[in-house]
Amino acid sequence: MRRPFIAGNWKMNLGIKEAVSLAQEIGIGCTPFRSVDVALAPTTLAVDAVNEALQGTGVHVASQNHHESDSGAFTGAVSATMLKEAGCAYAIIGHSERRTLFGETLDDVHNKVHSAFKAGLLPILCIGETLEQRENGQAQTIVQEQLLSALKDLSADQIAAITIAYEPVWAIGTGKTASPAEAQSMHAFIRSLLQERYPSFVANDIRIQYGGSVKPHNAKELLSQPDIDGALVGGASLTAKAFIGILTAITQG
Ligand code: PGA
Repeated sequence: MRRPFIAGNWKMNLGIKEAVSLAQEIGIGCTPFRSVDVALAPTTLAVDAVNEALQGTGVHVASQNHHESDSGAFTGAVSATMLKEAGCAYAIIGHSERRTLFGETLDDVHNKVHSAFKAGLLPILCIGETLEQRENGQAQTIVQEQLLSALKDLSADQIAAITIAYEPVWAIGTGKTASPAEAQSMHAFIRSLLQERYPSFVANDIRIQYGGSVKPHNAKELLSQPDIDGALVGGASLTAKAFIGILTAITQG
């Protein structure tokens, strides 16, 4: 049985004080939901303080991005090792905003997955097609390429420990969600790609989150699909009410 995993990506929202205050609120609000894994990804500046604020709550901290190298002359960059030291347990990698706005390539994403493991962070690997790609019938090809290139040279155990976040780019921050059937069909495709290539425990154990305008009102239906194991939440992770609303919705019988 895969444990549901809900992660909140705060992006470049919330300064240190705001992040700590929301983390405290969410940490308390998560107490009744021990059957769900929860992580929050604040700005890098707030990782340390948010980690402190979440002590004892069971909620983990995730990074939003890191440099693939461990250390060196990379002005402005932060390594996975540094994020681990500051308290991160997970590393979001390859978010579509990183790919489109910051020019991250398939190789960059692959290298970041490897450096996350080296540092002891568990990757949350984001993949997903744009609207144009979907309309041209390329959605599966793009998702397959992003997935397999990122997983190259990892062991089966490592792959099983990754979380995949399927985020159709056209659904991020737009209020447009993939229908539960559309999302389920891509999640099943992703799992089938893993099933064909790796020992079967990989496809069975790996968690695949859906991301893109997940809200309290649509979370339950999405997460009740057999291959949707969680959500990567942007906008609705910015208030405790909406984020806890998602946890409440998915755990209701
Ligand atoms: P959204 O963002 O929930 O605001 O659509 C999702 C994401 O970017 O991970």
